[in-house]
Amino acid sequence: EREQKMKLCVISGDGIGREVVPQAVRVLHRLLPALQTVTADAGWDTFRQQGTALPAATLAAARDCGAVLFGAVSSPAYPVVGYRSPIVQLRRELGCHANVRPTLSLPGSGAAEGIDLLIVRENTEDLYVGEEQSDGDTATAIKRITRAASRRVAETAFRLAQDGGRRRVTIVHKANIMPLTDGLFRDAARDVAAAYPQIAVDELLVDTAALKLAQAPQGFDVLLAPNLYGDILSDLAAAFGGGLGVAASLNLGSEAAIAEPVHGSAPDIAGRGIANPVAALLSLALLLRHWWAQPALAASLEQAVRRTLADGIATPDLGGDASTAAFCDAVLVRLD
Ligand code: NAI
Ligand code: MG
Repeated sequence: EREQKMKLCVISGDGIGREVVPQAVRVLHRLLPALQTVTADAGWDTFRQQGTALPAATLAAARDCGAVLFGAVSSPAYPVVGYRSPIVQLRRELGCHANVRPTLSLPGSGAAEGIDLLIVRENTEDLYVGEEQSDGDTATAIKRITRAASRRVAETAFRLAQDGGRRRVTIVHKANIMPLTDGLFRDAARDVAAAYPQIAVDELLVDTAALKLAQAPQGFDVLLAPNLYGDILSDLAAAFGGGLGVAASLNLGSEAAIAEPVHGSAPDIAGRGIANPVAALLSLALLLRHWWAQPALAASLEQAVRRTLADGIATPDLGGDASTAAFCDAVLVRLD
């Protein structure tokens, strides 16, 4: 009955977004036969055709569905008047306050063994919003941290830890140097942690976190970080996870969630049908687990992707010769 109400707004975007998204949705339909999908436009081609990279109809469809799959968009290499990044706008409009990025050891991806970590990053404030001023000789950036946003993302991190059967959340900050801003983030996270006695909590200064991630990513479970540190650490973590073809993410809020493979539109391989759909598939698994509350379906999708890779089937970025469609065919065969 719940499944009857499930709707997915499908935004392929540009380049390989148009190749991986339809294939990943084909797999999702097998898991959720009653899923309704609504396709919507966004990106550079959309900007050229409609004068906006995120048409009002797309935003309305995304709001209506709540769940969104966003493939990838191309952005202009030079500043274009009126162009705004549709994904940044969509995250903001839909109130997706947390960005969730797992790193997993996948067979055949070149990843180190034994990694299963989740970075939960604040998605709305911090230096990352780019509020800067300069008189030409002195430049300043504003780092604004609020208790409300810090609590909200911490609650998301602890809830995901609990729902995912995870054991530990590591709070990342630099409160020794920035006791007011990072101290506030840390204190808000500690407050939230008190409500989750069954989940262990520790803290690391961001530089130490980077060192330890580089040395032993297997030692981490959930990392909770302010926006900018989370941005940097999640790319560091992705370096262990088999590259852009497999890196998945979810933007999560209370009204909506956007599944978003980390990669871009990959113009160098677009149009050839060889893009790796794993990042899109694993992003959908995050949506299943954390938005639709379907952990069993999420696990069977992840397991099927794992089995496919373990059987030596892979797209060219991972050294194989499978097409996007052939890879997804192989995943479908391996679904429970
Ligand atoms: P990119 O992620 O598109 O590609 C980087 C490299 O990784 C390329 O060699 C590409 O072939 C490879 N790659 C990426 N995803 C792959 C996949 N699924 N399977 C196999 N190989 C894959 O980044 P790039 O080249 O810097 O940017 C290209 C365009 O994408 C630009 O217009 C950029 O602005 C945009 N972009 C969009 C993002 C988004 O929509 N969220 C994120 C990053 C870039
Ligand atoms: Mg990025």
